[in-house]
Amino acid sequence: MLEHDVLIVGAGLAGMRAAVAAHERGANVAVISKVHPVRSHSNAAQGGINAALTDRGDDWTDHAFDTVKGSDYLADQDAIEVMCSEAGDDIISLEHMGVIFNRDEKGHLGTRAFGGQQKARTFFVADFTGQAILHVLYEQLMESKVKVYEEWFVLSLIIEDGECCGVTAIEMATGRVYVIRAKTVIMCTGGVGRLFEPSTNGLIVTGDGMALAYRAGAPLMDMEMIQYHPTTLKGSGVLITEGARGEGAYLLNKSGDRFMEKYAPNMMELASRDVVSRAGQTEINEGRGIDGCVLLDCRHLGEKLIKERLTEILSIGRDFAGIDIIKEPIPIRPGMHYIMGGIKSDIDGKTSIPGLYATGECACVSVHGGNRLGANSLLDTVVFGRRAGHHAAEVSKQMEYKKFDVTSQIKKAEMDLQKLLDRDNVGERWANVRTDLGVEIDKHFGVFRTESGMQSLKESLTGFKARYDNCSVQDKGRIFNTDLIFTLELGYMLDCAEAITLSGIERKESRGAHSRIDYPQRDDDNWLKHVLVTKTAEGPLLTHLPVTITSWEPQERKY
Ligand code: FUM
Repeated sequence: MLEHDVLIVGAGLAGMRAAVAAHERGANVAVISKVHPVRSHSNAAQGGINAALTDRGDDWTDHAFDTVKGSDYLADQDAIEVMCSEAGDDIISLEHMGVIFNRDEKGHLGTRAFGGQQKARTFFVADFTGQAILHVLYEQLMESKVKVYEEWFVLSLIIEDGECCGVTAIEMATGRVYVIRAKTVIMCTGGVGRLFEPSTNGLIVTGDGMALAYRAGAPLMDMEMIQYHPTTLKGSGVLITEGARGEGAYLLNKSGDRFMEKYAPNMMELASRDVVSRAGQTEINEGRGIDGCVLLDCRHLGEKLIKERLTEILSIGRDFAGIDIIKEPIPIRPGMHYIMGGIKSDIDGKTSIPGLYATGECACVSVHGGNRLGANSLLDTVVFGRRAGHHAAEVSKQMEYKKFDVTSQIKKAEMDLQKLLDRDNVGERWANVRTDLGVEIDKHFGVFRTESGMQSLKESLTGFKARYDNCSVQDKGRIFNTDLIFTLELGYMLDCAEAITLSGIERKESRGAHSRIDYPQRDDDNWLKHVLVTKTAEGPLLTHLPVTITSWEPQERKY
């Protein structure tokens, strides 16, 4: 019998940080991941990680205020206080573990400016910060000898008497189905970026954890809050880091004007992401773009700085667009990047289901509200990953393994898989459905949204579900059956699409990333509250929760 005190699903930054923390507290920990840990999507995080260090003349309360304002006052301020006050210690721990953060001329940890913040408080490793941290955490994981179920795919959460007590999962190399029993399970599966086409996210980012928790009865919160990053590469949608603007790059329209002067005269290119994305999209919509794009100009930064600090985007420009960013401006457009919403969880990662935790992008603590500040997502993963790991380990010490019928769990999972494999080969391919779904949702749930667009998306989801039910899995084998795995992922994406669309229709105002042409104003009287969606036998149930305000009353948001 496979069993662990703490089972972590997902091996990105949140998952590995949680694993290291739970191991420190003496728990028997395991990580289960559908890819090798260093192939997790955290790898793609470029620009940096925020923290206000007092010895730099910064203060965590300023970071907290910037985060509250950035969230358009939707984030819970008690959770933001935890994240920002603990950030400094987490950065120092990462540095002690071996993360090679950039240094300033005095040899101290260096920072760069990032959007929506009064101070330059983003610690960075050139423009591959996520990759640098991911590899260091993987070293820690290997040193701790935590068990990693590598290339295993989770099929369901096991809920017994209302408590989570393990998962069913398929070992991809053999196709065998297992039950892994656990006293606590921490979901760290990342976002759902690939529901949108294009997206900055890796192909593996398919909302698995959110859908598994949703199917098990946990509410998803703030799912309408989808972040469009202002600078994604024309065509492919690859991320071009905000770090470029932090280093001083300009945004230009087709006349060569720095258009941010009109939209955010004080912060210009470093206004909050939602503001900059709306500005770029408006320029494009009103005919001041070039071929569906605007331009990001790094040329004046000079070859030396670009080669030292923007090395990734130098390669991305060359490899994905055939341009030399030292000599040419980059054609960019706003593109789907992040989901602020997720499985409702508290500051220790606890969800509404005892034994089930969630942290990182799949969770909604909520520290990002309507709009996340750049470089607060890596911070979210390490602060709340650590907290969830510690909490789950401590709780597990007081618990026994719950007994349940393992054989029937395996039988049920096997039967569900067999049903998919037994479909004849006349149906559609998952890939066509996934691409069409991504294009449709990007069209109706983009930078600007309307009631009619979202209603039409809701109707088309019924059609996409019918197409999904008719997908055929052509590989009938069990060994590394990616045809089967990708089909299962599409099912998870459709559940997330339902929650996103219903939440978007529900919120009748504009706040943060949820910018509605038909309700252009923020409406604190009616909508200073979270939207939650819970799966029930009667269908999705929409409810609300108040926002926690501690120190910062909502104000008009200007940059
Ligand atoms: O632009 C970036 O480097 C992205 C950072 C983030 O989303 O936190």
